[in-house]
Amino acid sequence: MVTGAGGALGSDLVALLTAPGAPPTDSVVALARADLDVTDDGAVRGAVRAWAGAGEGPAVLVNAAAYTAVDRAETDPDAAAAAWAANADAPGLLARACAEVGAAMVHVSTDYVLGPLPDGVRRPLEPGDPLGPQGVYARSKLAGEERVRAALPDAHHVVRTAWVYGATGANFVRTMARLARERDTLDVVDDQHGSPTWSADLAAGLVALARSPAPAGTRHAAGGGATTWCGLARAVFAELGADPERVRPCDTAAFPRPAPRPAWSVLGDASWRAAGLAPLPPWRDALHAAVTRHPDLLLG
Ligand SMILES: NC(=O)c1ccc[n+]([C@@H]2O[C@H](COP(=O)([O-])OP(=O)(O)OC[C@H]3O[C@@H](n4cnc5c(N)ncnc54)[C@H](OP(=O)(O)O)[C@@H]3O)[C@@H](O)[C@H]2O)c1
Repeated sequence: MVTGAGGALGSDLVALLTAPGAPPTDSVVALARADLDVTDDGAVRGAVRAWAGAGEGPAVLVNAAAYTAVDRAETDPDAAAAAWAANADAPGLLARACAEVGAAMVHVSTDYVLGPLPDGVRRPLEPGDPLGPQGVYARSKLAGEERVRAALPDAHHVVRTAWVYGATGANFVRTMARLARERDTLDVVDDQHGSPTWSADLAAGLVALARSPAPAGTRHAAGGGATTWCGLARAVFAELGADPERVRPCDTAAFPRPAPRPAWSVLGDASWRAAGLAPLPPWRDALHAAVTRHPDLLLG
């Protein structure tokens, strides 16, 4: 079962699971927000029971639903409540419903739950590194992780990812492609470092994890390597055939946003490899593959 099936990651999960050539043993229930509001306890339990009763198992629920408007959650109390309901409460409801029917759950979380490493050290972040959520979205996502682990101690897979862009919906890649057409030059933040992640690669990784014998755990999965937002913007310009130097580096202070962003969001793949899973492709290769497969990403 895929919840949040209409989102960037959710739609790639469904496309992958229902593609020609997908294992015929897979029977997939894809529920977008209109099909299942994951904050509705009764609806969640009903949907999970109906699904688990109908399938031949083993049953795995992949939760791709989330409240992702991170800045609105800081400034609008209704949005903050919606973020808490979708990101903290709902994963707990889903996990408890899975526990009732003996299903496992893959739950997607974020680099935002992590804090800086001590003494200003910068190296890829692993699941045991210090937590330090800043802001409503980050705290709500950490609470969601904790509830999933608590409800399914032996059957959870919490996967933290970062800087996701997909074929569906608005994202940084699309925005940069649009701005490349609209502006001569562009200032983009160059002091936040992260691992851009093509949602189709993440979807493939999550499905591999769900099918693997890996024990319950919290793991990181993001595009390989690292860059800055400026570096990613320049790569988008390069894919467009535009001059990457039109993108000029600037500091975070030049673009104050309501929700604080981690300066260092580079996720390591040690936990992923330790589970016997293939790391996600390097971010630059993934970007090229993404715009080749979905040229509309470059239309902005
Ligand atoms: N995007 C990133 O950069 C990023 C980075 C790190 C981690 N993540 C995590 O990755 C996961 C997937 O994110 P994404 O990028 O695919 O986000 P997305 O495109 O915003 O997808 C989230 C989906 O969840 C749905 N949703 C929201 N509230 C819901 C509810 N109450 N019931 C059912 N569905 C609901 C949304 O529907 P509506 O659109 O109708 O609201 C949307 O279709 C999330 O857990 C997110 O926290 C994302």
